Amino acid sequence: MIYLCLAHMSEDGMEQKYVKEAFDTNWVVPMGPNVNAFEDDLERFVNGIDSSAAPQNDKKLDREVVCLASGTAAVHLALIACGVKAGDEVLVQSFTFCASSHPITYLGAKPVFVGSEGETWNMDPKLLEEAIIDRKAKTGKYPKAIVPVALYGMPYRIDEIMAIGAKYGIPVIEDAAEGMGSRFDGQVLGTFGEYGILSFNGNKMITTSGGGALICRTKEAANEIMWYATQARDAYPYYQHSAIGFNYRMSNVCAGIGRGQMTVLEEHIAHHKHVQALYEELLADVPVVKMHKQPADPRYDANFWLCAATIDPSVRVKGQENAYKEVVKTAVGGAAGVIHAVDCATTDCQPNENVEALRVFMLDRKVECRPLWKPMHKQPVYSGAPVYTNGLEEDLFKVGFCLPAGPYVKDEDVRYIVECIKEAIEK
Ligand SMILES: Cc1ncc(COP(=O)(O)O)c(C=O)c1O
Repeated sequence: MIYLCLAHMSEDGMEQKYVKEAFDTNWVVPMGPNVNAFEDDLERFVNGIDSSAAPQNDKKLDREVVCLASGTAAVHLALIACGVKAGDEVLVQSFTFCASSHPITYLGAKPVFVGSEGETWNMDPKLLEEAIIDRKAKTGKYPKAIVPVALYGMPYRIDEIMAIGAKYGIPVIEDAAEGMGSRFDGQVLGTFGEYGILSFNGNKMITTSGGGALICRTKEAANEIMWYATQARDAYPYYQHSAIGFNYRMSNVCAGIGRGQMTVLEEHIAHHKHVQALYEELLADVPVVKMHKQPADPRYDANFWLCAATIDPSVRVKGQENAYKEVVKTAVGGAAGVIHAVDCATTDCQPNENVEALRVFMLDRKVECRPLWKPMHKQPVYSGAPVYTNGLEEDLFKVGFCLPAGPYVKDEDVRYIVECIKEAIEK
């Protein structure tokens, strides 16, 4: 089976070396030398020191990084640090994975969903500004934060989004969970906003099995995040709490994996870009299938965490007559854990039948081909939430799909995948 993106360890086993060190020194706790060293490595990377990520725009960065138990935890703590409280509104990209918006609800706050523009598929600055003005008119208050998302690693229009944030005094929390190592104007995503989210889940650009990090602008901000991540204790000889904290710090064992993974990060990014370029080349003569490419503006430098494409709605795919005829028994995307069974195979917003047929056809050929994220404002759990959109993300959801892109995907796999797509299309 060729999966979308699988964890891939370094060839010289650096991950195991650092994990062994954690055991040998008995640092099997959510703190310790690996956590500190991983944070140092990440800081060098995001600040462009000792790395090809060196900012080409001459900016000297001194961001701090705090390692956490997950990217979701990083979103949650960034919102808290921006002062988001029950009843507040937060502007968030609708076209994303649920972890961008769910933490807003953990705080009793309300997501206000913002639609995408057609070039990057990410937050549309025009819709963002329209939303800000309208929320102020309707509620008397500005939303408390802006959360753009680097969908599949594609940089958002960060220059315009930052300018809008500054104009209205609203902090930007960059969700770069999928965009580790993507750059805009030579600068790593996650370092532009007030806070930046990274994820090291098993399917991400690098992994710690599960884990995440928050990029902060100052040492003070990083300290505050660490305080919240370790149950928010005050300095007494006993446990004293003046705020609600969380158990969100990264394990020293997981950080060992992360340190090893940092030695292959640049290699992974280069590989994802190579796979994208090969798909673009091999699918160039299949006009009904269009790869999602980065904008021609040279400031955009995507990591292509996942390679995404769209298929023309008029195309018939083999087996299409059976699309959505049966209720799916497992979660698409190899999701771990439990999913709730459903008794109806369809919803009011779903990929076109040819996209579903392509997924099934590819699965039969042992290739994972997954629908795009379903826009959050179309999720039942968010019904009634305010949304500012021109419908683009819903249109893309109906025609789009993701293709395998990780380090395990070899050139011959890409050739095979493209051949399968061609075979799937009815002549
Ligand atoms: C856009 C986005 N935000 C946040 C997250 C949350 O990261 P994690 O899975 O590490 O909690 C993910 C990924 O899982 C994601 O894709």
